[in-house]
Amino acid sequence: MLPVLWWATWSASAVIVRPMSTSIPAVELHTRRLLLRPLQLSDAQQTQLLFPQWEIVRHLNAIVPWPYPADGALTYYRDVALPAIERGDEWQWTLRLKQSPEHHIGAISLHRTKPDNRGFWLGLPWHNRGLMTEAVIAVNDFWFDVLGFSVLRAPKAVGNLASRRISEKTGMRIVATEERDFVSGRHPCEIWEITADEWRKARALFHAKQQH
Ligand SMILES: CC(C)(COP(=O)(O)OP(=O)(O)OC[C@H]1O[C@@H](n2cnc3c(N)ncnc32)[C@H](O)[C@@H]1OP(=O)(O)O)[C@@H](O)C(=O)NCCC(=O)NCCS
Repeated sequence: MLPVLWWATWSASAVIVRPMSTSIPAVELHTRRLLLRPLQLSDAQQTQLLFPQWEIVRHLNAIVPWPYPADGALTYYRDVALPAIERGDEWQWTLRLKQSPEHHIGAISLHRTKPDNRGFWLGLPWHNRGLMTEAVIAVNDFWFDVLGFSVLRAPKAVGNLASRRISEKTGMRIVATEERDFVSGRHPCEIWEITADEWRKARALFHAKQQH
């Protein structure tokens, strides 16, 4: 279901109210340490170098091929991700350190049509520095404040402790548990959820904590 969200733009004499469309494209997002750049086909080469690692794929949906083919990133971006972005169904970014923006270090995506609205991965050398938490805050803002959705859901393998911790830190709650097929096999999976109102409260708390 598309979010029905109306926004107002001032013209010289009147407020023009128009429906916000999900054809809104991803824009470049900035966090304290990261630049999130909308996905491009040319990103496939760097993804192919970083992504095919067991520690990265084992908790991902079984749709990810494993062993990962030599053209896995290129065919996924060209045949699946970029067409979905073009249709207005997905928004995808690569993560880049502001210090060295020429290479990306991971990716994050938002999905309108799937029951799972967000996915992310980060190259191994950059784990546990709080980087994906920064990216999640930026794309949650985009999902709720720019695209105007009212709820965001994300599945997590119960054993995916780092990803679950990001959900906890950013105010999500578990609404269901079910079995799902991951690259590493069939495992219990928790569905985490947050509403727009909950996100705005969590974001305010998160920023307040960071200032102390
Ligand atoms: C999930 C992932 C993106 C996290 O990226 P990251 O930048 O390392 O995450 P952050 O540093 O922002 O936060 C990770 C949190 O998990 C915690 N954590 C990491 N490993 C943990 C473990 N084994 N047990 C408990 N907590 C753990 C970290 O300490 C941190 O919490 P803290 O800030 O309270 O200390 C990264 O681990 C990854 O790419 N995993 C493989 C792909 C994947 O699983 N994607 C998600 C699918 S749902």
